[in-house]
Amino acid sequence: MALDSLARCSLLEWDSSFFGFPIAQLSGETLSEPSGRAVLKWCKASSVRCLYFLADPNSAETAEWAHRLDFKFVDVRVELSLGVGAPNMPNVQEFALRAAQPSDITALQTIAREAHQDSRFFFDTNFPRARAEELFATWIVKDCEGRADKVFIAERKNSGPLGYITCNLSKDSQTGRISLVGVAAECRGRGLGKMLVSQALEWIRSAGAQKVLVVTQARNVAAQRLYQAAGFRTDSVKVWYHRWFEKPSL
Ligand SMILES: CC(C)(COP(=O)(O)OP(=O)(O)OC[C@H]1O[C@@H](n2cnc3c(N)ncnc32)[C@H](O)[C@@H]1OP(=O)(O)O)[C@@H](O)C(=O)NCCC(=O)NCCS
Repeated sequence: MALDSLARCSLLEWDSSFFGFPIAQLSGETLSEPSGRAVLKWCKASSVRCLYFLADPNSAETAEWAHRLDFKFVDVRVELSLGVGAPNMPNVQEFALRAAQPSDITALQTIAREAHQDSRFFFDTNFPRARAEELFATWIVKDCEGRADKVFIAERKNSGPLGYITCNLSKDSQTGRISLVGVAAECRGRGLGKMLVSQALEWIRSAGAQKVLVVTQARNVAAQRLYQAAGFRTDSVKVWYHRWFEKPSL
């Protein structure tokens, strides 16, 4: 079926395999009545059970048609960026930073399962909670196994990991990205997040990048304040919707 140029869907292989049912994403940030109806038809014909849609919040027509066509609002994605100067490394004596090692993975997974409950996969309770936890446990493992260019962990003497930050560089090394940050619940609010972000900025800057990007959720005030404290400023805001065709049995 032909969709107009503003609305195309593609099946997401990794997400479909991870959650165990067909998941697609709508590319294009706007929706009209005809494009919306064509998308729903395509999804039904393709047996899609969940469609992700990252929408332009400035389009009133999109919000109207997302609502009328039963898209579920799940998240506001906030992207921030920072021109990389010399980071100001806070010195919290209690904690030390180092590169992650394979022996850290189990402890990192435990933190990751709990830490990312502001994400759309927890907010949308159609995704089983255990799978949402596993998504972030899998994410940190994949980052440690090479998907991230660098993973730092924070620890107390002999404590094992208490927090992590994962970083990537663009192919030309001009732009860095902070991918996943998490601090163990019992250690939050003590400067660990700031230490991890400073370490990541130092690594990204020393690799030659001019700019660093990070994405968080509008509902995640702690993360926004963490990045703002390091000097990040908002670049863009987008709205995440999920359109369910058949809900998985929980
Ligand atoms: C976000 C997170 C990494 C911050 O780590 P942290 O060690 O608690 O943060 P710090 O103690 O270094 O504080 C950093 C800044 O954030 C602010 N902050 C931290 N927790 C906060 C909270 N619950 N509410 C409001 N602000 C908060 C602090 O006030 C501080 O800013 P300030 O010094 O200008 O006042 C931590 O809360 C966490 O792991 N959350 C769950 C995972 C997560 O949300 N990751 C980010 C996903 S994008």
